[in-house]
Formats: sequence, C-alpha cells, structure tokens
Amino acid sequence: MDWGIENRLSRLIKEDGRCQFLPIDHGYFQGPTSYLEKPSETIKGLLPYADGLFVTRGIVRSSVPPNCQTPIIMRVSGGTSIIGSDLANETLTTSIDEVIRLNATAVGISIFVGSDYEKQTLTSLAQLVNQCEPYGIPVMAVTAVGKELEQRTARYLALSSRIAAELGARIVKTYYCPQDFEKVTEGCPVPVVIAGGPKCETELEVFEFVYDGIQKGAIGINLGRNVWQNPHPVPMMRALNNIIHKNLTPKEAQELFEELSRSQ
Ligand code: 5RP
Repeated sequence: MDWGIENRLSRLIKEDGRCQFLPIDHGYFQGPTSYLEKPSETIKGLLPYADGLFVTRGIVRSSVPPNCQTPIIMRVSGGTSIIGSDLANETLTTSIDEVIRLNATAVGISIFVGSDYEKQTLTSLAQLVNQCEPYGIPVMAVTAVGKELEQRTARYLALSSRIAAELGARIVKTYYCPQDFEKVTEGCPVPVVIAGGPKCETELEVFEFVYDGIQKGAIGINLGRNVWQNPHPVPMMRALNNIIHKNLTPKEAQELFEELSRSQ
C-alpha cells in the first residue's frame, strides 16, 4: 500500500486496529433529522471521542470548526430525498477537487445492491475509487438498503460487502445482523465497520449488538442515531468507545453509561 493511503487509513483506524466513526450525514436525504437540527451543536460534545466524522461537504463548511483535528470522511453520494420516489437513485455529488480542498481523509458512498439502481451506484463506486486512489484517498462503501430494512440478512450483506471490496473500497460500512454476521466479515477482504440503523429501545441492546459484531470480525462502528438521539449522547458515545477500544463487555458498558449519565 502506498504511504499516503496507509497514512490516511492509520488516522481513521487506530493502533489497536479499531475505530469509532460518528455519522451525522443523515440530512443529505432526510433534512433536519431529530436531534440533528443544528449539526454543530450535535457534534460539539461528541467530537473528542470520534475517530472519524462522516459528513457532507455542506456540513463540513457550515458546522465543523476548521481547527478540527478529527479526520473527516466526506459523504460524496446523494441526489435523493426521503419524500422522493426511490432512495437508491443516488449519484456522485462531490468532485475530487472538493474532497482535496476540504482536506478530507476519506470519502464515503452508498451502494444499493439488488435495487433498480444497482448498476448506477456500483459504477459510481468504481469511478470514485478511480478518482481517489491516485491521491491516496481511501473510499468507504456504505451498503445501503433505503427503506427496505428487512433486507439486512447475512446473505444480502455479505453479497453487498464483497462486491464493494471487489470494486476497490478500502473500508465497508454495513449493517449488523444477529444471524451469521461472521459470514459478512469473513467474506469481505477489507475491514468492515457496523452501521447503526434506527434507534434501539434500550442502550443495552446497542451495546450487545456492537459487542457481538466486534467479536465476529467487525473492526468498529459508525453509529449515529443510537448515539445522538439518546438523552445522554456523550455517555453513550464514551461507553461505545470503551467497547471498541477497551473491550468492555455489554454489561460493563451499561454500568459505565449509567455512571457517566448520573455524573453529567
Ligand atoms: C445514512 C448513513 C449513516 O451514516 C448510517 O446509516 C449510520 O447512521 P445510523 O447509525 O443513524 O443508521 O449512511 O445514510
């Protein structure tokens, strides 16, 4: 691997081989999502615990302090909205010039395998890899399912993740699934990071699926709503950080979460 890409990946994936990314990119198709109405306020307290911040160029410019030392993973796909006809109809939205100008450490793009826009989103991924690799910028592929949340089976996620890696993604962000998640990570030759999904009922549920996903081969997480929609987002972020980087069990993470929430 060339020095530049290796250097950028090492800023995102820590020496223990793990990472915790903070996604606040939801507005690119959902508008002012609950608890993300003012992104700069959502980011503020959480940033010290994030190994990477997943955002669009608009949020970088408007809401991230320019002295921010947390690496930026720039979302560079979009073009659809939650009220439009098909969330899968995404294209590339951001040029390589912008990615470099805004000093992004990596970029992220969604792919929609099995949708009407499979070919369009997969060829966008391949083009993005072609544009970014000469500059040593790693591409993170997001295996998206739009509104079809029931698609999150090991078979589907393994298929999508493997295709993303074959097309040149350096990291794959995919969903966790309770059954056979190890088949997803084992079938993917690049690191897998777990996406969150809609907010769970309890914190323990989140700690349990994150812990299990890490045991089954994921190197980290990219959890948004389950962090910043929690009434105690900083304790949530810190408890998850301790599962990722300190191997806390779900029970220990729950105890830490409760202790931090009480002392806030
Ligand atoms: C939105 C994304 C998000 O980054 C991803 O879904 C993670 O956020 P959450 O944990 O809220 O699902 O790619 O398209």
